[in-house]
Amino acid sequence: VAEWKVSPHGAIEKHEDNLWSVPSHLPGRPLPRRMTIARLADGRLVFHDSFAVDDKTLDEIKSWGTPAIQWVTSGGHRLEVAAFKDKLGTKTLCPAESLKKVSEKVGVDGHLADFPADPNVTLETLDGVGKTGEAVMIVKSPDGKRFNLVFADAVMNFQKIGGFPGFVFKLLGFGWGPKVVPIWKRISLTDKEKYRAHLKRLAGSPNLTRIVPCHGPVIDQGPADVLRGVADRM
Ligand SMILES: [Fe+2]
Repeated sequence: VAEWKVSPHGAIEKHEDNLWSVPSHLPGRPLPRRMTIARLADGRLVFHDSFAVDDKTLDEIKSWGTPAIQWVTSGGHRLEVAAFKDKLGTKTLCPAESLKKVSEKVGVDGHLADFPADPNVTLETLDGVGKTGEAVMIVKSPDGKRFNLVFADAVMNFQKIGGFPGFVFKLLGFGWGPKVVPIWKRISLTDKEKYRAHLKRLAGSPNLTRIVPCHGPVIDQGPADVLRGVADRM
């Protein structure tokens, strides 16, 4: 059984009745990460980029819904997925393109086609991201008025950090603010223009309210313009 080892994390952010997230950092590093949770209409919970959380947080999550599925977004996000599955018994799904890397860490039970049908929560494979098959999770608020996009690595939003860690960070090919980072392009992209076009389509989604990135703060000020800018600059 993989060890359930809780790293320091923040309080639950409640974005919608069916969309929560928990901000944290990679263990021992200044890199922010976020676990995002969608609640399906039948009360089951889907975990996107899962990691261990403290008992109080877990209790609150369990009082909201039934942990059922973890979506492992790619082979790059597999640090605590085995512990998560052991602890919560979640069915574990990942993109077929990432099966090899993900299954080195956790038993995989299926892929995108096995994701449950739900009126408000869907996963859409990103165009041009053929190396990892990374998807975007799309969450409509239950009243249908707001539209949220949840990204793993395809759009990051790191905030500037200084000193030596910041210097190393830049060298590694990341950067500051909402963007498609160079290192991710090398690892994931197979067709830049197809990906750019997909981002622009997503930016045009009616009632786009929020972009929830795994890496960095939620973007809720002018998210459509932000996403168009990200697509233009990549
Ligand atoms: Fe990542």
